[in-house]
Amino acid sequence: MFDLEKFDLKLNTDVIGRNFIYAEEVHSTNTELLTGSKLYKKHGTVLFAEKQKEGKGRKNRAWYSDDKLNLTFSILITEPEYFKKINLLNFVASLSLAVSIENLYQLRTDLKWPNDILIDNKKTAGILIESTSKGSRIDRLVIGIGLNVNQIAFQRKFTVEPTSLKKELGQPVEREKTLAEILNNMEEMLNSSINFPDKILEDWKAKCKMIGKRITVFNDDVTKQGIFNDIDKDGFIILRTDDKMETLHSGDVSIL
Ligand code: BTN
Repeated sequence: MFDLEKFDLKLNTDVIGRNFIYAEEVHSTNTELLTGSKLYKKHGTVLFAEKQKEGKGRKNRAWYSDDKLNLTFSILITEPEYFKKINLLNFVASLSLAVSIENLYQLRTDLKWPNDILIDNKKTAGILIESTSKGSRIDRLVIGIGLNVNQIAFQRKFTVEPTSLKKELGQPVEREKTLAEILNNMEEMLNSSINFPDKILEDWKAKCKMIGKRITVFNDDVTKQGIFNDIDKDGFIILRTDDKMETLHSGDVSIL
């Protein structure tokens, strides 16, 4: 059982997670926070669920997470200043997770574009950002995070082999302290993303082993190969193929 008091004692934020909603079960924390009850209005609201019946992953995949073992939650962003640099939020979120895991557990993390967190080449967390619009303007956005914490068996077939903090450390991990650390770092990085977006990108790139390597990018039916040259200021991949530089906006990346 998630201990709210323990979590609260470690939470150091001004805004993010101050309105905290604990749910035993929802379809998807992203969907619930984005389109569900109008009660969820406050910027920084966090919806945490012990169980998701229809957890969503990127590219219409499902996100599977055993009940009560991991962290599955979404953060509501309603302040328009963050919508201007929406791609940067992927980097803010994945960097916050990586830094939190390293700070608390001294595990070396590696970031996989656009927003997976790997430990020893295995996936320990994923991020799904979704938004709703009024006319052509975004009015609500959620950062959905799934972090494998204490799950050690993964039955299904995954595109990237999964792992968890417990599996990597060989001992169970306290979810309350972990979530508080993530939200503390998230708030700090969200703030710095407004004034120092380049710093976020630089820090993110420093943790991405794939840059400089030969990669394959799978996007629906199209596969591209080349050198992962860099990430541009909007967060897109610059791929160097034999004769040109190409900017790629989405896809699944793997090292050749
Ligand atoms: C991915 O790697 O494909 C992204 C996974 C994102 C999963 C989280 S769990 C909490 C939030 N609610 C969802 O339905 N999905 C995200």
